[in-house]
Amino acid sequence: MTSINHVAIIMDGNGRWANKRFRPRIWGHVRGSYVVSEIVQAADDIGLRALTLYAFSTENWSRPLEEVSTLFKLLKKFLIKERQRIITNNIKFKVIGEVASLPEETRALIRELESITEFSTGLNLTFAFNYGGRAEILRAVNAFTVSHPGKSMSEDDLERLMYRPETGNVDLMIRTGGEQRISNFLLWQMAYAELYFTPTKWPEFGASEFKKIISHVSGRERRFGNVSGQVSLDQVVATAETNKSIYIQGASSNVQ
Ligand code: IPE
Ligand code: IPE
Ligand code: MG
Repeated sequence: MTSINHVAIIMDGNGRWANKRFRPRIWGHVRGSYVVSEIVQAADDIGLRALTLYAFSTENWSRPLEEVSTLFKLLKKFLIKERQRIITNNIKFKVIGEVASLPEETRALIRELESITEFSTGLNLTFAFNYGGRAEILRAVNAFTVSHPGKSMSEDDLERLMYRPETGNVDLMIRTGGEQRISNFLLWQMAYAELYFTPTKWPEFGASEFKKIISHVSGRERRFGNVSGQVSLDQVVATAETNKSIYIQGASSNVQ
């Protein structure tokens, strides 16, 4: 069985869910926010190492002002409502994305919760807010260029400069709402992720479907470019490095 440690979710379908019920889109976001708490709890119960939730993309700014401000308010509400549960459950919390554009009050709540939970050893819970996958990669590249002018960058260098390096590669990406795209989410970290698209709209998603998806995907074989066998991405990278040096040594001895 494949082990799933890091799950990332594109929480999509709030607006369509509400519209189908003749309600405004923001009603869908409010209902969707209840599901966030349920899924965090489920991830904690299963013992996942990391859960990353896409809550607001850099492209979502183009939505109507009222909708954008509702999403901002819901983030703040989540931080207040879930604060104690996050601390008590030993969850390590972090927000990734361009946090500087958030209101100071929200930034203060984020800073406080991030610092209180800095040494928590349980679930790594990440909110991607005002987040874009391309922007994250560019930010890392630019930081490297400034600190190492003229040097070329390795994969390790890039990973170290990502928003939250400790959560590493995504094992499983779930998108609710029926669309089959990744919408600029964790582009680098999802290179070898299993993808699962469910038609369920986010407000009607729940712990039981979440657990079913994880157990279904755990049965898939992840080959990481190999032919068969249950191997981890780290093992494959290590093997590839060893083979490369054997190959290079062999090649140079042929030349001699
Ligand atoms: C996802 O639901 C929430 C955010 C993007 C913030 P949507 O608002 O995109 O809902 P649909 O896709 O329009 O139904
Ligand atoms: C992706 O959903 C972003 C979030 C869930 C936060 P969108 O609804 O914004 O994505 P597109 O527009 O369908 O690609
Ligand atoms: Mg959408």
